[in-house]
Amino acid sequence: MIQRLVFAAALVAGLSAGIASAGERDMVARGARIARHACAPCHAIGATGESPKAEAPRFRELGRKYPVESLEEALAEGVVVGHPGMPQVKMTAREIEAFIAWLKTIQTP
Ligand code: HEC
Repeated sequence: MIQRLVFAAALVAGLSAGIASAGERDMVARGARIARHACAPCHAIGATGESPKAEAPRFRELGRKYPVESLEEALAEGVVVGHPGMPQVKMTAREIEAFIAWLKTIQTP
């Protein structure tokens, strides 16, 4: 009986851990889609490769300059940089959260 209870508890714990990480994976996948659609025409978004637009920084290296979380506010305001080569980007809070979750996964030191 006790054994069964322990088994059931372990199963529940395992399931909820699985759900949490599936949610995280979904978010990262959403972030990757946003980057592919909205940013990839100019920025390198992969683990390798150059930016199609040479002046646009490679996303995997953004973390070298500042913590990528710090982009959240700038993205929420729809302005990343005031440079003419960089269009204004409008994203919802959920999109920004997903984008940054994805951005963290591709950083190289
Ligand atoms: C039309 C081309 C283009 C697109 C599309 C584009 N960018 Fe950029 N981005 C640039 C260029 C060019 C720069 C470099 C500007 C500079 O520093 O002169 C830049 C710079 C940046 C920087 C660096 C800012 C800094 O000062 O460190 C970030 C972050 C960034 N872009 C985010 C994004 C995101 C997020 C998207 C997609 C939602 C995106 N960009 C889409 C062209 C683009």
